[in-house]
Amino acid sequence: MRFARITLSDRASAGVYEDLSGPAIEQFFAGHLRDEIVWTRILIPDERAQIESTLIHLADEEHALIVTTGGTGPSPRDVTPEATRTVIERELPGFGEIMRVQSFAKVPTAILSRATAGTRGRTLIINLPGNPRAIGECLPLLLPAIVECLDHLGWPRPQLQ
Ligand code: MTE
Repeated sequence: MRFARITLSDRASAGVYEDLSGPAIEQFFAGHLRDEIVWTRILIPDERAQIESTLIHLADEEHALIVTTGGTGPSPRDVTPEATRTVIERELPGFGEIMRVQSFAKVPTAILSRATAGTRGRTLIINLPGNPRAIGECLPLLLPAIVECLDHLGWPRPQLQ
């Protein structure tokens, strides 16, 4: 199965700091799924048109899952949720809702994330916040729904370790 991870960050894509969040996404799935996943890895700036065309291309290229990290906050350059809403056909607002509710107990600033999720064809697209810590805080909450959703979308059901 093909998964993609996209890091959205002006500074990481310019080499100002290292992208830790993208690799953390991949490590999480390697540690929780038995399936062999072929990863597409992308690091791009917070440019809405580029994000939209990348999401469309990856969905057309038969990726079962696309996980983005970054660009979900309130800063003027944060456009990931807008780009995601443009390309998805059906929104799955529960992914963002549960991340905000559950993370809020630990990190009061969690409600600054506008992350969402949805489907485009058979591809599930999920936004995560950009902080590397947020990956480990959010993905465990979402994993059961990711597995179920990929099954509903017609992919082989991922096997939990
Ligand atoms: N959620 C979790 N679980 N952990 C975090 O550290 N950071 C918050 C929020 N959600 C955070 C989190 C902060 S400070 C911001 S500004 C928003 O996510 C948006 O981050 P982003 O623009 O990098 O996506």
